[in-house]
Amino acid sequence: MEKTFVMLKPGVLQRRIAGEVLGRFERKGLKIIALKLLRIGRELAETHYAEHKGRDFYEKLIEYTLSGPVIALVLEGEDAIAVVRRLTGPTNLLEAPAGTIRGDYAARTRLNIVHASDCPASAEREIGLFFEAREFCPWEDGNRDWF
Ligand code: CMP
Repeated sequence: MEKTFVMLKPGVLQRRIAGEVLGRFERKGLKIIALKLLRIGRELAETHYAEHKGRDFYEKLIEYTLSGPVIALVLEGEDAIAVVRRLTGPTNLLEAPAGTIRGDYAARTRLNIVHASDCPASAEREIGLFFEAREFCPWEDGNRDWF
C-alpha cells in the first residue's frame, strides 16, 4: 500500500474545520496511520518548503505555516498519493473545482488549507521530516460487525 504525507495548515484549526477535512480522507477509504498536532519551527518549515525558496510567495508561506499549530498525518491506501491530490484539488485556487478541499474551503492560493505530497519521492521525504518510525500506528481492517 502506498503512503502519503498531508499537512493541514494553521487556517484549518482557526476555522474549526479539522474534522471536516480529515473526514473527507476517511470517507474516501484512506487509512490514517500516523497523526499529530504540532507547532512547527522555522527550520522544519524552511526544509519542507525548500523548493519554493526565492519565489515571491515564499516568506508569506513560511509566515503562514508558522502562525499556529498544524495537523500532520500519514495516509495509506492504494494509489494514496494521487487519490489525496485529487481530493485536495490543484494548488492554484482558480483551478480548484468545488467538491475538492481547496475548492470548497480555501479563498487564496497561499492560504490553501492543505499540503499533500505530489510524488513518491516527496512523500518519503516529507514523512521522514515530520515523523519518526515509532510514531506510526499501522492497523488492520477489523471486524465489520462493529460498523
Ligand atoms: P502547498 O501544497 O503547501 O505547497 C507549496 C505552497 O506554496 C502551496 O501549497 C501554496 O500554499 C503556496 N503557493 C504555491 N504557489 C503559489 C502561488 N503562485 N502564489 C501563492 N502561494 C503559492
